[in-house]
Amino acid sequence: MNEKKQAYAYLAKWFEYLNDDCGYEQWSQYLIDKLSRYPLASGLDVGCGGGWFTRAFQKQGYAMTGMDISAEMLDFAQETALSRGVRSEYILGDITKTKLPSRFDFVTAINDCINYIPKTKLDAAFKNVRGGLRKGGIFLFDISSARKFKEKIANTVSADDRDEITYLSFNREEEDGVTMDVTLFVRREDGAFERMDETHRQYSYTEEEIVAALVRNGFEVLEIEGHLGEDKERSDRIVFLARKK
Ligand SMILES: C[S@@+](CC[C@H](N)C(=O)[O-])C[C@H]1O[C@@H](n2cnc3c(N)ncnc32)[C@H](O)[C@@H]1O
Repeated sequence: MNEKKQAYAYLAKWFEYLNDDCGYEQWSQYLIDKLSRYPLASGLDVGCGGGWFTRAFQKQGYAMTGMDISAEMLDFAQETALSRGVRSEYILGDITKTKLPSRFDFVTAINDCINYIPKTKLDAAFKNVRGGLRKGGIFLFDISSARKFKEKIANTVSADDRDEITYLSFNREEEDGVTMDVTLFVRREDGAFERMDETHRQYSYTEEEIVAALVRNGFEVLEIEGHLGEDKERSDRIVFLARKK
């Protein structure tokens, strides 16, 4: 068995490619529509990953900083932004540990970033987000719903088979979420496939847990809805819009 690495050590290079069916275009427009209701100029995209949303917000005119705990994701984000002429800043950091200067008008954390945060560290993460916002600043983020974890992720295998890469994820239910053992088979230049393994740990949160943590950490909750405005009871994703008090 190969050495198992931490989340995104190998997947970083392939994440946006494998995720190309998530509707990034429509998704980012939905988020921009929400942000545009407020007078905002600068933003921090926490868990920016490969930077799709960071680039979309920057292109919309916001001065963006992308932040991620994974050096490999951040490398991908930086290289992609550079090659496309998008001038965002990128910082390597764990939102549960990083104190930020209060200079951002808004913070985003899109596409499961919050699900990667252990329950014991959620308060620290929200406290640091609050610290990074100016007074009245906006925090826009989502989680995969607790129902999605229970009914669609726990104890399943997900797979994606493409010419140059095969992705497998074995998703084991835990008391507070799932452990995902991810295996990639990546085609080398000589045609042979190289195997790579990494582990992801995600935590399932209820809407109530998130709201309580937001309130405890000095936020006022303005809006809660499902993905792209869907009914939150049926949606796989719950979107939260909050304001720093
Ligand atoms: C599912 S990816 C989403 C990436 C990107 N937002 C997108 O949608 O393309 C979740 C990201 O959150 C990052 N992440 C997880 N825990 C984090 C933490 N404590 N601080 C900062 N980033 C974190 C991961 O490294 C990963 O890049």
